[in-house]
Amino acid sequence: MSFKLTPATRRRLEKAARAATKACYAPYSKFRVGAAVLAGSGKIYAGCNVENASYGLCNCAERTAIFTAIAAGEHKLKAVVVYTPTPVPTMPCGACRQVINEFGPHAVVASVCNSAKRIDTTLPALLGEAFGPKNLR
Ligand code: THU
Repeated sequence: MSFKLTPATRRRLEKAARAATKACYAPYSKFRVGAAVLAGSGKIYAGCNVENASYGLCNCAERTAIFTAIAAGEHKLKAVVVYTPTPVPTMPCGACRQVINEFGPHAVVASVCNSAKRIDTTLPALLGEAFGPKNLR
């Protein structure tokens, strides 16, 4: 069973993801992404995409937010919300899905954008039969 978000928490996450795009460093793709995660403690952590002249080193907004949460001492993720200033929502890439799985195998995942279109789903729906910590125990 995946975690259930209250409407108020969902709104706070969306607001934090939207605000995070102010710090985006995306001079190469010009594709701005903000993300916010709800961690086990109930705190929200945000992140933006951070690109690099060596393109392969670009870091997605989702992973920036997740790593910020983990660096603050969190161990679990309950929800991940992505925001892009686009007409359609953007979903986490495969690498980010795998990183979400590490800390939030049952996480709620939502994506919002600049239109009324949105996607509300869960990590198990996005990454079926995932490889994860359980395989190494
Ligand atoms: N990006 C994200 O930050 N999150 C996503 O879900 C998709 C892609 C970033 C990576 C790169 O900086 C830019 O968007 C274009 O791929």
